[in-house]
Amino acid sequence: MPCTIIAGGFWGDEGKGKIISYLALNDKLDYCVRTGSVNAAHTIWYQRRRYALHMVPGGFVYDKCRLLIAPGSNVHVAQFLKEVEETAVHKRISIDNQASIIEEKHSNQDKTSAHLKGIGTTGWGVGPAIEERVRRTAKLAKEISELKPYLADVSTEINQALDENKKVLLEGTQGLLLSLYHGTYPYVTSRDTSASAICSEAGIGPTRINQVIVVLKSFITRVGTGPLPGEITKEEAIKQGWFETAAGTGRDRRAAPFNLELAKKATALNGATQIALTKLDCLYPESKGTKTYDQLPKDAIAFIENIEKQTHVPVTLVGTGPDALDLIDRRK
Ligand code: IMP
Ligand code: MG
Repeated sequence: MPCTIIAGGFWGDEGKGKIISYLALNDKLDYCVRTGSVNAAHTIWYQRRRYALHMVPGGFVYDKCRLLIAPGSNVHVAQFLKEVEETAVHKRISIDNQASIIEEKHSNQDKTSAHLKGIGTTGWGVGPAIEERVRRTAKLAKEISELKPYLADVSTEINQALDENKKVLLEGTQGLLLSLYHGTYPYVTSRDTSASAICSEAGIGPTRINQVIVVLKSFITRVGTGPLPGEITKEEAIKQGWFETAAGTGRDRRAAPFNLELAKKATALNGATQIALTKLDCLYPESKGTKTYDQLPKDAIAFIENIEKQTHVPVTLVGTGPDALDLIDRRK
């Protein structure tokens, strides 16, 4: 803090939503800024309720947190309005005038393209929507009448907030290995997902960033096609307790063990200053619900310390259960 980036280290679904919601509540974030588009669902469990947010920033759980959608993001109007209702954040959410719009036609183009089917996209239409933005024919948020009440100059607002030393969190989507530039091309999403791109989408210069927290899950999952080193079968994943289905599309997630080489790449390319390690309880069931580091099983501590040794980045946050507050905070 005051300016922190949350970036995924693998193929998305590392548990960014959980880490963001914890930081919003614990650190009392003033601003939470969402980047990316509707293809990413951030899952948040709070007060025994589950939210799968495609548009509203995960910081909504802290009721004094202002919620912003970045100029570089791509907005699905109906999904945005639906989530604003669900989370009751009408009075504290804004979208940048310059955010681009994803339309029904983009989803149709996505679903009927044999090439995109081969990549296993989410079908929301983000690739075709970004193509339009690049072609400079996309609609922008400022042209949409239902969005009028929510429009703002988000990048200026964030920069002013930082001038006033406010706590700002920039929420990335997907993970480094789905990056258009650094991922497993062509089996990637339609944007760069690294910390630098998150800055760029928000309109924040790199010198203003204080912390980059890369989120790594204790095992790896991937949805859609493309390489996944060490992939195990669905049966094996169920046995290990690693089987998940996608929060957005409901598809089965493929699974593989944690991979130190990929963790090193993710922390290096994002310029990580901290690692948040999620779902430790899926690897070491005895750690479930633990809130202090010393109470973790010995093998779980060895696992964490090996990640630190190999990446040269401290593991500061450790997730031990689904709720926003099931977490060991080693920053204290
Ligand atoms: P698209 O982003 O819908 O074009 O899909 C391209 C690739 O990124 C596919 O493999 C998707 O499964 C993957 N993908 C996109 N968004 C997410 C996400 O939020 N979590 C995990 N995978 C995603
Ligand atoms: Mg997700």
